[in-house]
Amino acid sequence: MLSDIQEILYDEEQIRHKVIEMGRQLSRDFKDRNPLVICILKGAFIFMADLVKAMDIPLEIDFMAVSSYGASTKSSGVVKIVKDLDVPVEGRDVLIVEDIIDSGLTLSYLIDVLERRNAKSVTVATLFDKPSGRTVELEADYVGYTLPDAFVVGYGLDYAEKYRNLPFIGILKPEVYNR
Ligand code: PRP
Ligand code: MN
Ligand code: MG
Repeated sequence: MLSDIQEILYDEEQIRHKVIEMGRQLSRDFKDRNPLVICILKGAFIFMADLVKAMDIPLEIDFMAVSSYGASTKSSGVVKIVKDLDVPVEGRDVLIVEDIIDSGLTLSYLIDVLERRNAKSVTVATLFDKPSGRTVELEADYVGYTLPDAFVVGYGLDYAEKYRNLPFIGILKPEVYNR
């Protein structure tokens, strides 16, 4: 596992501080709005858990699972809803929690879905942003770290479903996905 990592970009401690900082900001911005906080599975599961623990305001959570990468380092371009929300978003202030924005396809699709369902507002918080990967125009409202153009894993992010449990974010050795 560890031997597949070329370089650690941010360690557990650094991420913890970043997530707490974002949680505090979100608490201020969503105070008295009872946001519906939506975790985009699977990648965002660790970030979601840490983020909502850092938000000391009333909120509700739900989960949505989408997938477009499969066992590849490139998006297939087709976003599939694998699991939908349990509750209606109509009239709600929705906060989407994502682990990473790369091409932007996943989020532009999701934002569109939630707006068509008449959410009152749709806000995006992502821990990682890789602007160099964009194929559609999209900007998150809250960004933890901006990443270089490399395939990263850990803290929820996978390659072919592996490495999600690494507590840090690191660059995967290209030989792992080229073999
Ligand atoms: C990854 C990641 C984001 C999305 C970002 O999810 O977790 O959701 O891709 O890429 P994009 O901006 O190019 O759409 P993935 O489809 O791999 O599913 P997963 O979260 O289950 O790993
Ligand atoms: Mn994902
Ligand atoms: Mg993935």
